[in-house]
Amino acid sequence: MTEATGILLPADAVGLARAAEIIRAGGLVAFPTETVYGLGADGLNGEAVARIFAAKGRPADNPLILHVASDGELSALVARMPEEAAALTARFWPGPLTLVLPRSARVPENVTAGLETVAVRMPDHPVALALIRAADRPLAAPSANRSGSPSPTTAAHVFADLGEAAGAILDGGACRVGVESTVLDLSVSPARILRPGAVTSEMLAESLGYAPAWIADARAGGSPGLRHRHYQPRCAVVPFTGFPPELGPEDGIVTLSQPAPAARLSLRVRSLEEYAQRLYAIFRRADQLHVARLFVERPPLHGLGAALTDRIRRAAGRPVDG
Ligand code: TXA
Ligand code: MG
Repeated sequence: MTEATGILLPADAVGLARAAEIIRAGGLVAFPTETVYGLGADGLNGEAVARIFAAKGRPADNPLILHVASDGELSALVARMPEEAAALTARFWPGPLTLVLPRSARVPENVTAGLETVAVRMPDHPVALALIRAADRPLAAPSANRSGSPSPTTAAHVFADLGEAAGAILDGGACRVGVESTVLDLSVSPARILRPGAVTSEMLAESLGYAPAWIADARAGGSPGLRHRHYQPRCAVVPFTGFPPELGPEDGIVTLSQPAPAARLSLRVRSLEEYAQRLYAIFRRADQLHVARLFVERPPLHGLGAALTDRIRRAAGRPVDG
């Protein structure tokens, strides 16, 4: 990847200083978080934010998450802090929980796609936090993939998808969680999950006093992002339960509860955590190997299984109904 050397930055003091300079000048920097890589820009600069939409080919009606490194930065972005917010940020930040809150006038229109709410999270990754602090502003950042493909979990995935359009890429290795943050809408009461992630409904119940429901449909008031095609590799993704199906020579398979039969791509994950961490890399590998159909064992629906089920259904091109 010799052409990448100009845009790949090491996640050290020199790389971070350069990345912060680019952000402050209105440019783009892809950076690691604990979930997936984000494509960041100055979240208070509408022109910089517009560059994110252009680089990703992202529909303008899909709002972005603002990434902060302190609770103080959060207060400046919201018009009103719902009662539950303090307990949730105390318990889950930094971490894979995005809160949707009433927006303040400081937030540029294109960040929220014209909505009256803004999505904010504090990522649990030293490189992401250091970049936000060095840039000294919240970073608007969607996943750093081309719109419609699986989210990137390594710097190489970002480069493969966006190349020079990423601006610069801070290389922080592979992401730990592997699927995007839980999005919780706190602008309504009771709160609702708009996208399941590693902070599960069961975990949120311990702070909220109730298990928030998951609204999977944009028309029912879910995230605008739910209207769009998402997370799809080129191969056909086919979920299965029980025994592995009969495989053809071009098929691949991922199992969880049983050994994986031989196939063009054959692997077994040992836990829901490992499944989530590797899912998008597996999709990308299947495409590299020209896998025609990738059979994936359905995870149980509890815990991280809800997030996995959501991403697998979307990758399979099915409507998500719960
Ligand atoms: O883990 C993550 O959340 C990653 C990392 C980079 O932080 N980011 C990420 O961003 O997944 P993105 O843009 O790919 O997904 C953001 C989701 C979309 O489904 C979007 O529609 C939803 O959050 N969203 C953003 N702002 C919203 C708002 N004001 N109301 C409802 N949904 C919102
Ligand atoms: Mg995304």
